[in-house]
Amino acid sequence: MSNLKHNGRLRWAPSFLRNRGQVTRAQKRAMRDHWDRFGIRFRHGEIIDLDSHYEFKGPLIIEIGFGMGDHLVHLANSLPDHRVLGIEVHRPGLAAATGKAAAEDLKNLRLIRGDARLVLTDYLRESIATAIIIQFPDPWPKPGDEHRRLVQPDLLTIMHRTLIETGECLIATDVDLYAEHSRNVFSKDDRWQDLEKSKLQLHRINTLYESKAIEAGRVITEMCYQTR
Ligand SMILES: C[S@@+](CC[C@H](N)C(=O)[O-])C[C@H]1O[C@@H](n2cnc3c(N)ncnc32)[C@H](O)[C@@H]1O
Repeated sequence: MSNLKHNGRLRWAPSFLRNRGQVTRAQKRAMRDHWDRFGIRFRHGEIIDLDSHYEFKGPLIIEIGFGMGDHLVHLANSLPDHRVLGIEVHRPGLAAATGKAAAEDLKNLRLIRGDARLVLTDYLRESIATAIIIQFPDPWPKPGDEHRRLVQPDLLTIMHRTLIETGECLIATDVDLYAEHSRNVFSKDDRWQDLEKSKLQLHRINTLYESKAIEAGRVITEMCYQTR
């Protein structure tokens, strides 16, 4: 996507690891057979008309970086009167989520391939979502890599633009340092306030990533914020 660059410079440092995993044969088949139904394609410079991609109108929840899509598909199943949109860069994850959405015949789930920061900024309208979920963002724990973390002041501006008033953001991490980092970033932005609990937490299930983190003895931190 060419407009990840501005004046020849990257607008955001890559927040994801490249070349993570191969697309399996079954996943390739799922993309071939079902991407036209679940995936939203868009052209450079286009503002996506989300209403034309869903079969009904309803509150919109966005999950950024949904991995293999287990939580995303569960969420769409649990909230059939909501529209759910997953944004991910990882091809095997997009393919896996497409296959799962097709197997469940989900009417309320759509997927976009791309860097969520770019998609939200350049391709989606403002004030469209009631909630944004980010679970287990890549932690970039090494000194010098902090700028690659997804949760940054700039992301808070982007999410604030996308959410309606009193929209919610739910973040989960298994890395204490990342929890501290996220709290720090949110505390410095007075357009956001802490939220003790979010209804979305009721629909959270453990993804494979989360289960492995728990098995390894790491503590899961969930943080909820609301736009003012
Ligand atoms: C550690 S994985 C966690 C996946 C999933 N949320 C889970 O709980 O299993 C982080 C995911 O975020 C995705 N990601 C990172 N930065 C992203 C961005 N800017 N836009 C979209 N997805 C991103 C990665 O591709 C990866 O799949």
